[in-house]
Amino acid sequence: AKGDLIRGRFDEGLDEVMAQINASIGFDRRMAMQDIDNSVAHVTMLSEQGIVSAEDAASIKQGLEAIRIEITAGEFVYSVELEDIHMNIEARLGELIGPAAGRLHTARSRNDQVATSFRLWVRDAHDRASQLVERLIGVLLEQAGAHTESIMPGYTHLQSAQPVSFGHHLMAYVEMFGRDRGRLRDSRDRMNESPLGAAALAGTSFPIDRERTAELLGFARPMHNSLDAVSDRDFALEYLSAASLCMTHLSRLADEIVLWMSPQYRFVELSDAWTTGSSIMPQKRNPDAAELIRGKTGRVHGALVGLLTVMKALPLTFSKDMQEDKETTFDAADTLELCLKAMIGMIGDLRVRTAALRAAAGSGHATATDLADWLTRELGMPFREAHHITGRLVRLADERDRDLAELSLEQMREIDARITADVFTVLGVEDSVTSRRSLGGTSPKRVAEEVAAWRERLGK
Ligand code: ARG
Repeated sequence: AKGDLIRGRFDEGLDEVMAQINASIGFDRRMAMQDIDNSVAHVTMLSEQGIVSAEDAASIKQGLEAIRIEITAGEFVYSVELEDIHMNIEARLGELIGPAAGRLHTARSRNDQVATSFRLWVRDAHDRASQLVERLIGVLLEQAGAHTESIMPGYTHLQSAQPVSFGHHLMAYVEMFGRDRGRLRDSRDRMNESPLGAAALAGTSFPIDRERTAELLGFARPMHNSLDAVSDRDFALEYLSAASLCMTHLSRLADEIVLWMSPQYRFVELSDAWTTGSSIMPQKRNPDAAELIRGKTGRVHGALVGLLTVMKALPLTFSKDMQEDKETTFDAADTLELCLKAMIGMIGDLRVRTAALRAAAGSGHATATDLADWLTRELGMPFREAHHITGRLVRLADERDRDLAELSLEQMREIDARITADVFTVLGVEDSVTSRRSLGGTSPKRVAEEVAAWRERLGK
């Protein structure tokens, strides 16, 4: 029967439910290509070391390549009885090439095999995510560069705080995604070591060459402790951590898009391609993709916490618990990549309603800080006193139902007679934004410099 590959000491087959809980083929088939690469590298080394004959190695490689084609063409028949992708491939190899297939697993265990194949998969996931993050940074730079001078309200506590450049706001996300890119790079560098050759847990008595298989698989070096090599899942956890943070950033940006799309804001518009309608309310244009990015963030965070919990009390070395590493990691990678693509699409699609942004920036007494700074600078008041006087001016403006910048000089002088007409040079939102030239500040010139620096960094 199928499954006999490793059941020499057993008489009976598995209970149906046992087979069901035991099998990972339902999801680990996704790393079939990595597993074939892994086996090709292993058998290449075995033959170079004289552990397997050149003839058998050639036939094994031929068989593996035939299986690769079957899988790619969707013709491969997966068997649940064979538990996982590793045994499915090995069993099929036996059907294709006969007894020589049995030599492939020399000096190898499923423990170092799965650690290697999964590591290769997670390494690919790092690369895909990095590329998408770079594309996202690219579209953010486009929008930011076009909107260095578009003024919007900057918020704290979601209350109008100080006017800022819309480009500056987007560049804050460029910094966040830039750190995500750095984290993915760091994690990829750290994980790029080969577990292959650790065998079950203790190494092997065969004269294998672990440097060679590491090299063939594009790893920087072999891992140095066989027990660690088969028990370590840090690489998946680091990937999930980087993915979780990236999703948090995506979710914050998505949330702002939802807010900005609301008719009470109307800061931005998304085209038909990126919005949905309502089944009952004909006027609706909903930013579903942004909401879904926000919503899907929980899945990725869940994958991280789930795997941390799987690993946290496992004794060395392999325990079957670790088979739970894959399904959620695959889902997290799918989710992250889909959300990055959706955000790239939305940011590219975003039409910024600069007049609405500008109008909103001019409300909420957004230049009150500029007024307090002026009182301090021009009249030599202590800042605390300037803050108090400005507060009274804000109250007066509220009572007159207008913005601070709309008070007349006479009205201002009712509060403090020392105020001169020169004050009007700081009350406009343009003046305010332009004046914030400090490093990292919102002045259009600074923002344009940052956009240029990031373009350079990305080689654009
Ligand atoms: N399918 C297993 C996994 O995903 C392979 C490892 C099984 N190893 C073992 N000793 N039973 O982790």
